[in-house]
Parts: sequence; C-alpha cells; structure tokens
Amino acid sequence: MDAMRPSHKEPGGWRRRCAREPGVPVRRLPCKGTWGNYIKNKTEGVGRAMSSNLRFFDALPAYYGDKRKLVKAIFKVAPPASQAPTFADAFLGGGAVSVMAKALGYRVLCNDIAQRSYIVGKALVENNRVKLTDEDINRLFLETENDGFIRANFSPTVILSKHADFLDNAFALVRAMEEGHKKYLLLLLLVKYIFSMREYKKFSTPNAFNIPMEERRIEWIKNRTYHASIKAVLKPIPEALREFAGAVNRGVIDNAQENRAFKLDVREFLQEIQADVVYFDPPYAGTMAYEDNYHALDQILEGRMFPARKSEFSRKDGMKFLDEVFQAARHIPIWIASMGNAGGANDLSELQEMVARYRRTETYRIKYRHIPAVATEEHQAKNEEFLIVGRPR
Ligand SMILES: C[S@@+](CC[C@H](N)C(=O)[O-])C[C@H]1O[C@@H](n2cnc3c(N)ncnc32)[C@H](O)[C@@H]1O
Repeated sequence: MDAMRPSHKEPGGWRRRCAREPGVPVRRLPCKGTWGNYIKNKTEGVGRAMSSNLRFFDALPAYYGDKRKLVKAIFKVAPPASQAPTFADAFLGGGAVSVMAKALGYRVLCNDIAQRSYIVGKALVENNRVKLTDEDINRLFLETENDGFIRANFSPTVILSKHADFLDNAFALVRAMEEGHKKYLLLLLLVKYIFSMREYKKFSTPNAFNIPMEERRIEWIKNRTYHASIKAVLKPIPEALREFAGAVNRGVIDNAQENRAFKLDVREFLQEIQADVVYFDPPYAGTMAYEDNYHALDQILEGRMFPARKSEFSRKDGMKFLDEVFQAARHIPIWIASMGNAGGANDLSELQEMVARYRRTETYRIKYRHIPAVATEEHQAKNEEFLIVGRPR
C-alpha cells in the first residue's frame, strides 16, 4: 500500500470514522499514511521500542477506561517530541498514554491521585532500565512476619485464602524494601496478579465465584463464564508470577529522558510542572467511580480499611471542577482532553466551551470498542470517544 495514502482501516482492525453531527463540530484525524510509517517518523530514535509492536502494553494492569486503543489518535493530534519535548499526563490511570508517550521520545510527567496508578508511573514511566529477575520473585516467598490483613478482611470474598496468605507475606516483604524502582516493579507485579484473579478484572462482581471456589465446589461455578478466573486461581503462584514478570519487563523501555511520576491532586500537579502538552482524561459524572470499583484493591495497597473517598470529578456536578483544572494548566500551551459518550452524563459541548475559554479548540470523534467484559452490546454500539484539542490562539 502507498505509505502516504490515507487509510480508513488501521492495522490490527482499529477503525475510525469521523462524521459530522449537528451542534458538535468534529474533524477528521490527520491521516498520514499507515500507522506504522507515521509512528516510525515520529519516534526519532526510539524505533526499537516501537518495533516490539506495542508489547510494552503487556505490562499495564487491565485498568477500567484505559486508553490503549486511543493512543494512536492522541498522538496523531499531539505535536511530535521534537516540537513539544515534555508531555504531561494529568490523570495517569492504567498508564497507557504515558507509556506510549515515553516510547515516542517525549519526556513524560505523569500524575494520579491513586496509589494503584502511582505504582505504574514509578515502575514503568520513571524507570528506564531496572527489570525483574527470578531472584526477585523467589524473594517474595521468604517467610516474614505479617499482619494477615488481606486474609482477615478480603478472604475468601475477594481473594482466596491460599492467595491471601501469599499476598500478606509478599506485601510485607515489599513494603520493607527501600524506595526504588525494584520496589514499584514488584508492587506492579502483585497488582497484576490480583487483577488476574478477579473475574473480568473487576472488584465489584457479586460473589458467584470466590466462595464456591474456596470451598472447592467448582461444579457450582458457571464454567464458561468464569473459565479464565478458574484457570488463573488454579495456576501455581510461582508460575503465574514468572509469566507476569515477563509481561512487566516488556514495559520497561529506555527513552533516555528523566521521566517523573507524581501522586498529587491534579491541580497541584499542574501548578508544579512545566510541560509543552498536557493530556486530560478525568473521570466523568455518571461513569463508574474508580474509588468504588477499586475500593478493595486500594485498601489492600494501603494495608488498612477506609471508606471510599469518591473523586469530585465523578460527582454529578463534577464538570465544574474541570474549570479549576484548566485554570491550573494555563501555562501549558497545548491541551488534549478525552471524553467518552458511553454511560456517562457527559456534555461534550460544555467541555468544548470550557476549553474554548482558554484555547482555540478542535474536536475529533473516534469510534472504538471497550473490553467486551465491561461493556454491554448496547453500550458498545454507541461507544465513541472525543478528543478536544486546545491550541494557543
Ligand atoms: C479515566 S482514568 C484515566 C485513564 C488513563 N488515561 C488510562 O489510559 O488508563 C481517571 C483517573 O483519574 C484519577 N483521579 C481522580 N481524581 C483525581 C484527582 N483529583 N487528581 C488526580 N487524579 C485523579 C483516578 O484515580 C483515575 O485513575
């Protein structure tokens, strides 16, 4: 295929359709030949990382609402690293956008208020070289004194007792390690392991799996529905950890930049940093609140019980807090904001107007599919994402 010819079907089945809709001025994404050629031109020396066919995404946790299917669109509208060297990801989440930005040669500054995301930032965004070894995994099995927190509070409802005992011991060992990339790589490994045992990677599913599994009543479990979870919990722990360590290591790439991860409220983060382009992917009202869905995981990571502290962005009037975010980002020239239309009570034109107060705006529409397990067919059918780009006037 002619490399410079616009393609309507991206490699890997990733489709996009740009259509006009009354009241919502939307544009076509810039078409610059195939994604492969486009990325090759943009990467400027980090081609080796890209030629691994985005395998660095294997390292990421299966984060709800992650934007790995949207990264191509995001970096088509973003200026290249040669023109905008520092890229800020204000709501890091599962890390897909930051890891992609890193591979494209930007210096990445990422931030999220949640520890679950900060772990990804430290392990895969800040860290350019350190990887997990077999010895690191073996160390997780050394018996140490621990408080049995997971066993006491989350077993068997969230985690089976056998795994809870292992995790209590492993978290105690990792928490005692000195600060450094190795510690966060191991935390990411444990997070990925926990995700793998949760049905459909969710922490909120009613308990049709864990209790019968704990009691070895496997015939009570809907085999087809929970096939992946049955396989995951039956796998010997060392074997599973070695597989996940390989996946985590694939996410450790060196872009020769000093990338940094922050765990701050987004407004504080923006005031603290200097960047050339910032990406906003906040939670929106009417979509699943991260603090509810990941409440059990967040408590496991902090090693204590606490009530869910729902982010103000997930509240009914969440949009009004976004204006504070934009005010805090006034010194960053280029803004890219994501908004989906599925499930949420999101008002695209309200967001466009907010961005337009500070920037010249363009809006792009992208159709894409969420992980089938977390989206109904109806939800999939109307699933669209918008990118609102703000450039200096
Ligand atoms: C939609 S997710 C980001 C998804 C991400 N782009 C990805 O690809 O995985 C929104 C994130 O915002 C974080 N968040 C919520 N309130 C925040 C705040 N006040 N400051 C910083 N981050 C916040 C949540 O913890 C969540 O991880």
